[in-house]
Amino acid sequence: MPLSRRWTLTRYLIEERRRFPGASGDLNALILDVSLACKAIARIVSFGTLNDNAPAGGSVNVQGEAQQPLDVLSNDIFLRMTDWNGHLAGMASEELEAPHQIPAGSQRGKYLLTFDPLDGSSNIDVNVSVGSIFSVLRAPQAVVDSGRDVTEADFLQPGTTQVAAGYALYGPVTMLVLTVGNGVAGFTLNHNLGEFVLTHPNLRVPEDTHEFAINTSNSRFWEPPVKRYVDECLAGKPGPRGKDFNMRWIASMVAEAHRILMRGGVFLYPRDTRDPAKPGRLRLLYEANPIGFIMEQAGGRASTGRQPVLGVQPSALHQRIGLVFGSKNEVERIERYHHDTPPRDSISPLFAERSLFRD
Ligand code: AHG
Ligand code: MN
Ligand code: MN
Repeated sequence: MPLSRRWTLTRYLIEERRRFPGASGDLNALILDVSLACKAIARIVSFGTLNDNAPAGGSVNVQGEAQQPLDVLSNDIFLRMTDWNGHLAGMASEELEAPHQIPAGSQRGKYLLTFDPLDGSSNIDVNVSVGSIFSVLRAPQAVVDSGRDVTEADFLQPGTTQVAAGYALYGPVTMLVLTVGNGVAGFTLNHNLGEFVLTHPNLRVPEDTHEFAINTSNSRFWEPPVKRYVDECLAGKPGPRGKDFNMRWIASMVAEAHRILMRGGVFLYPRDTRDPAKPGRLRLLYEANPIGFIMEQAGGRASTGRQPVLGVQPSALHQRIGLVFGSKNEVERIERYHHDTPPRDSISPLFAERSLFRD
């Protein structure tokens, strides 16, 4: 299609806004600023180790994880490109322990933004795709009315309340995938224009798949339903599933989500027993919920294994959660396997494996 006939992200947002004649346009303006942050991050990521202005690395973030210089830089870009525009009441980031306040002197708005500025950043040094993930929530009315600073509690809203969510993928091409609650659209960065143009309208996740993604090095910590599911996939054609499966693991959830949107599949980073203090690896507010919203809007499904992830009431800003998403029928099967097995918490510790009564 000639470029002149392709919609830009701006046009897509304007056409979507027509569904709500009373809308102020604040959400659109916010998403455009987020997309500008993503373009800036795409640029620095593409320079790799040639970046002269990257801050020194080697620190550890609030999650106790190694922080790459580009994690810090990407976080700063998200903050700087969105905190001035008057549309936000506050922000929360993977890289910041506490919510980020809109600076004094800047107007405060009615939305909250949560984000993972660089997902899969352990892949940066090996030149594998990384991305940014974001979610937009409404600020509680009391925050909007008073203009007060935001608190952690203001962000603890279930994923069903998200107004918009998206991710940018910095792969061989840079793409932005977005939902404003009316399906999922994919945009490709046109470097000549410096604009995201609509290349993948109405993305749909195929309901069935024969491709799964899981970090099998954790298998000894998996709960029985996950072990059963993966064992059945590995058994292939002669096994209970009666078909062969393929496996992928990129270690960038954003890249796995994109593959699944393009051709189906199922991704699991389930709750496991590796570290009782960490129920799962991925974070609810800025990883699981935005990707879950996109999957559901594309006809896929996102779950903790036991319940739809978007229905979970968050309890902490950096809460981790087990996550399974992708092709609907496959995710539902994994949920069935979980419901067939009593949850770990319901087994009395006195009688559980490795308890007082077992050695
Ligand atoms: P982040 O780089 O933002 O910390 O997230 C990394 C996440 C996710 O993208 C990926 O699926 C997972 O961690 C990789 O986990 P493993 O190290 O277990 O492969
Ligand atoms: Mn991440
Ligand atoms: Mn990250």
